[in-house]
Amino acid sequence: MLPATAPAFSPSALLLYCRPGFERECGQEITAACTGLSVAGAVRGKAGAGYVEFVPNDAGAGAKLRAGLRFEYLVFARQLIFAAPWIVDLPAADRVGALLPAIAAFGTAFGAVWLETADTNEAKELGAFCRKFAPPLEHALKAASLLREGEIGLPQLHLFFIGSSTVCAGVSDPGNSSPWPMGVPRLSLPPHAPSRSTQKLAEALHLWLPPAEDRRLLREGATAVDLGAAPGGWTWQLVRRGVRVTAVDNGPLAAQLLVTGLVEHVRADGFRYRPRRPVDWMVCDMVEQPIRVAELVADWFAGGWCTHSIFNLKLPMKKRYEELERCRGAMRERWRAAGVTCTLRFKHLYHDREEVTGYAHRTDDPRKKRHRTSDQALHSK
Ligand SMILES: C[S@@+](CC[C@H](N)C(=O)[O-])C[C@H]1O[C@@H](n2cnc3c(N)ncnc32)[C@H](O)[C@@H]1O
Repeated sequence: MLPATAPAFSPSALLLYCRPGFERECGQEITAACTGLSVAGAVRGKAGAGYVEFVPNDAGAGAKLRAGLRFEYLVFARQLIFAAPWIVDLPAADRVGALLPAIAAFGTAFGAVWLETADTNEAKELGAFCRKFAPPLEHALKAASLLREGEIGLPQLHLFFIGSSTVCAGVSDPGNSSPWPMGVPRLSLPPHAPSRSTQKLAEALHLWLPPAEDRRLLREGATAVDLGAAPGGWTWQLVRRGVRVTAVDNGPLAAQLLVTGLVEHVRADGFRYRPRRPVDWMVCDMVEQPIRVAELVADWFAGGWCTHSIFNLKLPMKKRYEELERCRGAMRERWRAAGVTCTLRFKHLYHDREEVTGYAHRTDDPRKKRHRTSDQALHSK
């Protein structure tokens, strides 16, 4: 089925999934990222649709975007797909037959095929259609040598349906995309966790720490402070890994945490609390103005009180993208002034609602008091 001399696929657009209601931010962000690669274009998106498209003005710019965009730097996108033009008239009698030539035109085999929809209530019915349609399609793709499941390094094929006859086909690249269908991680809620918030920290750790790093950095003997800890879902994630936690909150903590012997409950203001000695981790889920939390986190690194942090920024209803950039800028500026070097990432996690989660870690040696002017790592976003 694959033509012997298939031309390299040149995407005509980017397709990005996002949480419904965050299309504007997703569009602002991808526009900025493409501008950074000197590619201008237009965002197409509808409020509440759960996805946006970015169409470059220069039809030949798709390959440049595929080479230059990094999914890990995108905050609001759940998935980054390099897309072919929409197919709007799939015949109900033979959808597979109609799709195969379009899929072969990508000029590659795929390691996986995902039939996807937007993460909206309206699209739920289509999910059933996708589940039914997947087996015959996979069968046909395998027969045509277009699907070689599990083969390392092959791109994923996405078929994004907005109706049973309207689909956008595209590819995502392993290592530069979400590894989850629809960009939605499947993490089950641990039955004994004190709160649903525990899912946010679980997802953040899963996203930013590969398993070996998780074991190395969050282990018996590691120390953490949890600001705004009650009732204790984030503390619970740390304690189950053997980490000793100081849980700061005026509210009550779940009793199951206190009996572990690993948790000290401090009733104090999280903005004023300082550790007696530096800790490995500071996590923070206080509901407060995002800039206050961002400055607090920046202070913890500048003061040498922690080397890793995961924290939540509750975003305002309006200008969410701008507010996030303001917070990012304030943190970088604080670190530049203090001469510390940190990397900083943000993600609008699946378990986040009107908020984003940040991960910062110090990349210079906090034991050495160095006053560097270079903030090379900060510039890496
Ligand atoms: C969203 S809840 C945290 C949930 C927690 N991460 C969990 O998983 O169970 C926010 C918490 O922040 C606490 N909080 C808000 N402002 C605070 C402050 N200035 N100092 C300490 N705690 C604060 C509240 O009391 C509340 O318990």
